[in-house]
Amino acid sequence: MPTPAELLAAATADADRTIDLRRRLHRRPEMGLHLPDTQATVMAALGGLPIELTPGRSTTSVVGVLRGARPGPTYLLRADMDALPVQEDTGLPFASEVPGVMHACGHDTHVAMLVGAARLLAERRDEIAGQVVFMVQPGEEGFHGARYMLDEGLLDAVPGAPVSGAFALHSSSTLASGTVHVRPGPIMAAADQWRLTLHGRGGHASEPARTRDPIPVAAEIVLALQSMVTRRVPVTDPAVVTVAHIAAGSTNNVIPDSAFLEGTIRTLSAGRRADVVESVRRVAELVAAAHDMPADFVHEPGYPVTANDAGVAGRVAAAAAELLGPDAVPPMAEPLMGAEDFSYVLERVPGAMAWIGARPQGVDPDEAPPNHSNLAVFDEAPLPAGAALYALMALRALAA
Ligand code: NI
Repeated sequence: MPTPAELLAAATADADRTIDLRRRLHRRPEMGLHLPDTQATVMAALGGLPIELTPGRSTTSVVGVLRGARPGPTYLLRADMDALPVQEDTGLPFASEVPGVMHACGHDTHVAMLVGAARLLAERRDEIAGQVVFMVQPGEEGFHGARYMLDEGLLDAVPGAPVSGAFALHSSSTLASGTVHVRPGPIMAAADQWRLTLHGRGGHASEPARTRDPIPVAAEIVLALQSMVTRRVPVTDPAVVTVAHIAAGSTNNVIPDSAFLEGTIRTLSAGRRADVVESVRRVAELVAAAHDMPADFVHEPGYPVTANDAGVAGRVAAAAAELLGPDAVPPMAEPLMGAEDFSYVLERVPGAMAWIGARPQGVDPDEAPPNHSNLAVFDEAPLPAGAALYALMALRALAA
């Protein structure tokens, strides 16, 4: 078993290839579930290694299997590879060459770190008792790409040795470069969308009594939802309910015949999630009913809570501290209220997701453009550390 220092040194010696892959992906971002160029680049990057590659059937995912020298359990390492509908304005020499599409969430760095880890692990096959599954997924940005891979049998990629543990890294353009952030339990929220249409009756703005005005009803629902959250949801198991979009009316002297509202619900436990979704529906429908106004409520489930196994989260923190020093692994007090579709994997196997800081040197933390910004820049210096951390998690799991 290599020491963490040896692994980091090997990853650092390989940094040029890791950075080159990252930049090639960055120039040619693709979105959604079908990323043929990205898939081809990933397959080529893993191609020279002793890794069995299987492209997805329903999406352009890639599953790689590395078999160790001896049989044993199967450990999964995951990177996502899709980009966002953002016009890049960073001015980087390797900026996106695709108008309106950008690797603004750093998924290009995830692929580069994972492929770097694959090279480290392939060179150390003799020290592995078991198999490593490399999960390279499209469609993380709201397209449920992980769910398609699970439906295609991802966890049984090695017949007779189902995946028994999993790990994923995510880059942050705002956290200090080279720091690792992980916590037991929820690290990302569940995200649900909802939409509400109020069916009023339009008319002259001077004669509201001859109409059913949906606008005051919409306003009442917005406030009732906020009262519901503060009075019905314990702060110890919290929820966010945001009305992010309201549309009604067209001019000053017409009462419209309908109003539309939509928003998001974020929660950190499955129980709270079900409860708040139902509460939003109840408040919206019954406030509308109080005003004799038909309402159509639609709930669109998003990703579940991303919940880290406490033991695995502890092992991630320990491995990162050994690689990078204890100062590089500050305690992560709070989960993030964004969502992540690695949650589907963590619902099925114990594992963890961690954040790796990639804020460029010299940039003020308060000024750093966040993930998803058209100005987001990810420092490449921590890429070898990320590759080494992926590899160390697999080596330790399969040496046990
Ligand atoms: Ni992301």
